[in-house]
Amino acid sequence: MQGKYKALWLSDDMFDECLEVIDQRQLPFLYDTKYLTDTNEVVTAIKNMTVRGAGVIGSVAAFGIYIAAIEVEGDYEALKEKAALIRESRPTAVNLMWAVDRMMELLRNSDNVIDDARRYAIELNDEEALESQKIAQIGCDIIEDILKKSGKTKINILTHCNAGWLAVIDEGTALAPIYEAKRRGIDVHVWVDETRPRNQGASLTAWELEQSGINHTIIADNTGGHLMQIGEVDMVIVGADRVSANGDVANKIGTYLKALAAYDNGVPFYVAIPESTFDFEIRDGVKEIPIELRSADEVRYIKGVDEDGVVREVRITPENSPAINYGFDVTPARLITGLITNKGVCEADFDKIREKFNS
Ligand code: MRU
Repeated sequence: MQGKYKALWLSDDMFDECLEVIDQRQLPFLYDTKYLTDTNEVVTAIKNMTVRGAGVIGSVAAFGIYIAAIEVEGDYEALKEKAALIRESRPTAVNLMWAVDRMMELLRNSDNVIDDARRYAIELNDEEALESQKIAQIGCDIIEDILKKSGKTKINILTHCNAGWLAVIDEGTALAPIYEAKRRGIDVHVWVDETRPRNQGASLTAWELEQSGINHTIIADNTGGHLMQIGEVDMVIVGADRVSANGDVANKIGTYLKALAAYDNGVPFYVAIPESTFDFEIRDGVKEIPIELRSADEVRYIKGVDEDGVVREVRITPENSPAINYGFDVTPARLITGLITNKGVCEADFDKIREKFNS
């Protein structure tokens, strides 16, 4: 794909080649892009969520190593320090660490660190794009199956946060099967959890689906359980930021509650992931996956557009009330119907995962 993807791409607008990314903080109000030209800008963009979503963070990190290689003029030892900064920029999504480690390992004995970093980053991202396409096909087969068994003509899918092409190259994970469903002519409707506190569902997933003409309805985060009880949810598909060796799934805060409600109502709960989202080093996800703690102001303030079209942030809490902001939670494997992976559907179970992925 020559380094050109939907959420990020190599750009030749500057003196040195750099990475251009969609500024996801501005969506859905404004489509704007940012140039990332050095390590500092890459790290800042990941931390302040100009770019976000497990896969895309990994993709930006891989190209970040290329940009850092230009910065240190191909000196591998100096690159190690830059790589450490990128690797530490966010804690939960393992795709970030995976991408940095893979890039540095491949470059260890390179004679031409800059050119090789460019090539390896493109290869890594092309692989991710291919895996997303496979997830689209495999996940859509499940959608077709569930629809057929239900005897209905339309399928209602609930999703949480954003695991579309803004989150994972190049069609996403949870949304990839939904894009494929539309291509196959399936009547699909998506319940979009708003996903407080940053509202990635209301702002990003809804924006993606609207762009693609896919029927969707935004719901307040607490609505899913009720919809399941009245038979309005046929399946749940979410993405993930890290999956442990035994199939526990770290995903955006609130996912666990949806999984509990789905389990109680007999609604199939699927998690769509590329291979890079597995952390085979961690056996017990609930105990061991590091959970990001973000600024309490993300809970206390909310962003929107006023009637004059001006984007504003307003406080919604008493001035002095404290707040706390966990970015993710972990859904235990026992609540998960299946993992939709690039290698097929896999039970969320230690032995089944080991068998499929030779881990
Ligand atoms: O904090 P974010 O926006 O980077 O969180 C990532 C997510 O959107 C999700 O939890 C998502 O389902 C996994 S990314 C494929």
